[in-house]
Amino acid sequence: MIHQELIRPSSLHSPIQVARPKSYQVYMETFGCQMNEYDSELVHAMLKAQGFNFTDQSDQADVILLNTCAIRENAHNRVYGHLGKLKSHKKDRGVVIGVLGCMAQNLKKELLDSQPFIDVLVGPDGYRQLPDLLTTAIHTQTRGLSVDLSEYETYDQIIPERVSGVNAWIAVMRGCDNFCTFCVVPYTRGRERSRDPEGILIEAQGLAERGFKQITLLGQNVNSFQFENWDFAKLVTAVADIQGIERVRFMSPHPKDFPPALLDTVAQHPNVCSQIHLPLQSGSDRVLEAMGRGYTRKEYLQLVEAIRCRGDIPLTTDIICGFCGETDGEFQETVRLMEEVGYHAAYVFKYSERKNTIAARKFPDDVPEATKTERVAQLIEMQKNISLKTNRTLIGQTVRVLVEGDAKKSSQQWVGHTEGNVTVVWDKSSPSTQPGELLPILVEDASASTLFGRPA
Ligand code: SAH
Ligand code: SF4
Ligand code: F3S
Repeated sequence: MIHQELIRPSSLHSPIQVARPKSYQVYMETFGCQMNEYDSELVHAMLKAQGFNFTDQSDQADVILLNTCAIRENAHNRVYGHLGKLKSHKKDRGVVIGVLGCMAQNLKKELLDSQPFIDVLVGPDGYRQLPDLLTTAIHTQTRGLSVDLSEYETYDQIIPERVSGVNAWIAVMRGCDNFCTFCVVPYTRGRERSRDPEGILIEAQGLAERGFKQITLLGQNVNSFQFENWDFAKLVTAVADIQGIERVRFMSPHPKDFPPALLDTVAQHPNVCSQIHLPLQSGSDRVLEAMGRGYTRKEYLQLVEAIRCRGDIPLTTDIICGFCGETDGEFQETVRLMEEVGYHAAYVFKYSERKNTIAARKFPDDVPEATKTERVAQLIEMQKNISLKTNRTLIGQTVRVLVEGDAKKSSQQWVGHTEGNVTVVWDKSSPSTQPGELLPILVEDASASTLFGRPA
């Protein structure tokens, strides 16, 4: 399926017709975490630099890319579901199909063997090879694979092609060396490496000049960032000092080695958002030990205390229910800890065994599915009540909201977030309001997930 188009030079001095390859249209879908969103932006930039164009219509694409996630079984299933749908694009139009990201890395040849219509498979460290692999697949129908993990690749010097004009992600480190026993990420993203702060600051400066207002610094374990004499607190401060950047966020820090200097930065720097995502996973010491998290319940609570000493800093968290051998008593310890901390929000997951992880090798996945489901439902319900109560305390107060764009449910409403990262929705009333603005909003009503109000 080689597309050619004829270029007719307008100059009379050049009567020869020159043939050049058509610019291929790429359609890309991204699954998984913000790191994957960022990687898709990198891929977009690298392909664009090689003459590929992007389309948001899959039926007009010459190339369809899925950037995939492997974190839980349902992430895999979603991708398999999508791949099933792509088969017809392949059959009817000969589209080139590429699978990128964590699932590509995790399953490698197994995925190629089981899904014969995949042309190109590239893991998170192989994106520099993607333009060549796609070109080869287009021209010679040869399948291509790049799934070597690198100890050095940070995609420094590549400026991602960004979609939003308000928030930009910047990955400051890649990979993870923590090997929590349940987690596939160290296998899909390889060893921890930090990016040169010089490149990060140039990128952030460029974003500020283009009008971006919020920067979210990303890493699987962002407080492990270390480059020569730069630690993460120093990096956050330097980004926050860039003129025009109104908000700096970061995710995710790891509770086992949260540096006090970073807490001071959050507490003292007015544009470093007072909000911390602090993944707990479990409130039971036995489970935390089996998960290899590197902290106890007591140490986690001491960290929460150290955060609370520095002011009103909303916390959010991740929880896994039904990890290997989790008893009802151990689960109740998670319930009590969540009540004690009073998170603003919690992301609750059923434990999903991932092949080749330490837990898969060492412990049986023995909590019945129905028990996992019940525990997840109980925590979600409990957290909903806590979030509703917390959000309702804001009714009558004025919050500062970064305007992000149209609300999901209606283009007649704006959506934005508070500094504490709570979603706010309000009716569009003033024609002068623009995304990127910081607006005072008077909160008039609240649900567990959203505040509703009007410009104050
Ligand atoms: N690096 C981040 C986590 C990234 S994965 C951190 O350590 O905080 C995001 C969340 O997915 C994790 O916090 C965990 O709650 C969940 N998760 C990871 N592996 C999982 C698994 N095998 N089953 C269920 N949930 C999992
Ligand atoms: Fe996974 Fe643990 Fe690394 Fe987070 S810190 S990515 S949970 S291994
Ligand atoms: Fe992110 Fe999923 Fe990979 S959560 S790091 S895309 S496994």
